[in-house]
Amino acid sequence: MLIIIVVTPILIKQLKSSYELLLTLAQRHLLNVHKKSMQTGFNSQVAIITGAASGLGLVIAHKLLNEGAFVGLFDLNTAALRKEFIGNPDKEEFVSVDVTDQEMVEKAVEQVIGRFGKVDILINCAGITGATNVKSHEVNTDNIKKVFDINFMGSFYTSKAVLPYMLANHYGRILHIASIAGKEGNAGMLAYSASKAAVIGMTKVQGKEYAETGITINALAPAVIETPLVHAMPDTQVKYMTDKIPMRRCGTLEEAANMAAFIVSAENSFTTGFTFDLSGGRATY
Ligand SMILES: NC(=O)c1ccc[n+]([C@@H]2O[C@H](COP(=O)([O-])OP(=O)(O)OC[C@H]3O[C@@H](n4cnc5c(N)ncnc54)[C@H](O)[C@@H]3O)[C@@H](O)[C@H]2O)c1
Repeated sequence: MLIIIVVTPILIKQLKSSYELLLTLAQRHLLNVHKKSMQTGFNSQVAIITGAASGLGLVIAHKLLNEGAFVGLFDLNTAALRKEFIGNPDKEEFVSVDVTDQEMVEKAVEQVIGRFGKVDILINCAGITGATNVKSHEVNTDNIKKVFDINFMGSFYTSKAVLPYMLANHYGRILHIASIAGKEGNAGMLAYSASKAAVIGMTKVQGKEYAETGITINALAPAVIETPLVHAMPDTQVKYMTDKIPMRRCGTLEEAANMAAFIVSAENSFTTGFTFDLSGGRATY
């Protein structure tokens, strides 16, 4: 059967408007999918955040809480936790933890599992700089050990404690907060830089080890974000660090929280073992 279509200006106009209608419907569908995934956020997910009483940990914990997560808040400073988190008792578990104490960390993780039934997310924010503005030949050995204990061993103990639960669930997101100092090495900050480099090394190993399990393990390397940790450092050391930032400013806590939330989201599913940059252009790798 032969069909002859006569292309008239009216037909062209009708085809054009049908095409435009289809395009609009497709765009609307995409927007709805996006909106739905935004609404889902962290609903019914359980997140453990260490160092949640101050700075990055505090802001990241609030963001996840606001987006629907149940949160296990770990810190030495439980008085500050109680002050900073009010109004969501059903979704918060405060735990007084020293992350350098492996037994205490294991018990704290069990406490969160006992309360909320699972753990989907771990974010390691507890950290210290230790003494800074000190050359390597003047570094105090005990200080190096202390900084490694908190920054590296603490992140190791918490990840070791949550991994069996994540493996059983076939899902997990771990984020270690490292530092630009771990990528680049900050003069005057041997203990801090080396401990954060160790965290970056651990992230690469863990990312590979659990790559086929539904668990991703990444790190974040911020440059300078204004928090009590930075306020406690000598001005000359802070100037040394901020002078190296091409954007000529500090990062904001909001910028850090947004990136952390993306890294631990379900949507971030094909990146593991990676150290994300948050340095205003200082590290382009
Ligand atoms: N602020 C920055 O510019 C910056 C830059 C790069 C990396 N970081 C990293 O981000 C993380 C958070 O830093 P911040 O600036 O928010 O610091 P912060 O000092 O504001 O907060 C750190 C929190 O960790 C807690 N903590 C310290 N030792 C602990 C321990 N042994 N057990 C449990 N909790 C402990 C503290 O009580 C505090 O609440 C740190 O790992 C830090 O190295 C910060």
